[in-house]
Amino acid sequence: MTTSFLPALSRRRLLTTVAASSVAVIASQSNRLHAEAESPKVSRIRPAPAEVSMVGNDALRTGVLAYDGVIPGPVLRLRQGTTLRAVVENGLAEGTTVHWHGIRLPNAMDGVPGLTQPTIRPGGRFDYAFSPPDAGTFWYHSHDDSLVQMGRGLAGPLIVEELEPPAVDRDLLWTIQDWRLEPDAQIAPGFSNRMEAAMDGRVGNTVTINGRLPDNLRVRAGERVRLRLLNAAIARIMALRFVGHSPIVVALDGQPCDPHEPAAGRILLGPAMRADVMLDMQGEPGRSYPVVDDFYDRLSYTLVRLSYDAAPPLRPHPSDAPLRLPPNPVPRPDLATAVFHDIRLQGGMMSGTGGGGMMGMGGGAAWGINGQSMTGDGSADMQPLFRIDRGRSCILDFRNETAWWHPMHLHGHSFSVLKRDGVPVPHDEWGDTVLVRPREHVRVAFVADNPGDWMLHCHVMEHQAGGLMTTIRVS
Ligand code: C2O
Ligand code: CU
Ligand code: CU
Repeated sequence: MTTSFLPALSRRRLLTTVAASSVAVIASQSNRLHAEAESPKVSRIRPAPAEVSMVGNDALRTGVLAYDGVIPGPVLRLRQGTTLRAVVENGLAEGTTVHWHGIRLPNAMDGVPGLTQPTIRPGGRFDYAFSPPDAGTFWYHSHDDSLVQMGRGLAGPLIVEELEPPAVDRDLLWTIQDWRLEPDAQIAPGFSNRMEAAMDGRVGNTVTINGRLPDNLRVRAGERVRLRLLNAAIARIMALRFVGHSPIVVALDGQPCDPHEPAAGRILLGPAMRADVMLDMQGEPGRSYPVVDDFYDRLSYTLVRLSYDAAPPLRPHPSDAPLRLPPNPVPRPDLATAVFHDIRLQGGMMSGTGGGGMMGMGGGAAWGINGQSMTGDGSADMQPLFRIDRGRSCILDFRNETAWWHPMHLHGHSFSVLKRDGVPVPHDEWGDTVLVRPREHVRVAFVADNPGDWMLHCHVMEHQAGGLMTTIRVS
């Protein structure tokens, strides 16, 4: 398994930058950051067309849009409480912005075109700087023409390291992306298929881990791996089963949760969602075990195999190091005084319980929230759905009136998931994206402590572009 890295060329460019301005670079997997944790760091990130090899045949290169020429974009790592500085230089033929998904940052750094900043024109640049308050697994992606720009590759991981990380043998990251590839490995055109847009979105046919079609992850019996899972697909929902293993979920969307086994042994990840799991490698040396994604009926496939080294176990018994991650400074909402807002998710094609019937196309592919449809990626003339006083606690009561799943995402805050269909969730659970099932009713709460206009949208990109989007104002 390879993880993304900076190609020689951009590494040279970055090093030149370092020499010129005597700042450190964070865009790599290396640990030298620990030594430099206190110094400000600048990352130069250039979105541009590129060709990459993702299907395991180096003769078949795929035309993509990439940050610094790599898919996914460079892994950005920094320590909790330090500052990330990122200079984004637009090498695309159209406008772009970068959104730092899940980070509780100042509104002006949120990367929503029209709403929080002007789009970065071709050849232009924008300097982002913010200090993430929370440790965890986050990511960054384009927020302009995002269906196409993300769908062609503009996404990358952002890891904020705990000041005291848990004891593990390895800390691994899987950025999982889904592509619809033609036989020649090119991305299929037709990003705005109205039919798909009104259903479950553009689900592809090729799933990559860290930009490559995966085969085996080599593991050692007895080791404990912290595995950071990031679903960076534009539409595909995943339900991952680690056959023969018992992963323990320790964080969702970067926020620590009560360590728990996932329901039915499946880690459910909608687009944009992350899970950090602790995986004790309890398989037999020399054997291999599939990791299966069986979210879609009859479309189950083996994502990758855990392939055990023949060496004897690293330790006689599983590690007994604590699993719980140190808490993040996220404020707890006060439910007694919280303001309550209904968020009705509407539109899409209706379907019978079998999921196959289609009716109601007359209204087109539109989606909506409480009867309104904001479409596209963000714009200046968006009227917020509601305004809330800064510091107030807020309950969002999502009612999915559609026949489709929606990973609903709020910018600038992390919320606590309270109830599903009226039943309190079994574990303390926080996130920035909550996966809402067809017809489900999900209640979340957060403290509106971050001033600004913030997006609230579905992270299936066709749904967002088709109207399942709104904003809220904290002032
Ligand atoms: Cu990750 Cu507005 O999105
Ligand atoms: Cu976001
Ligand atoms: Cu949706």
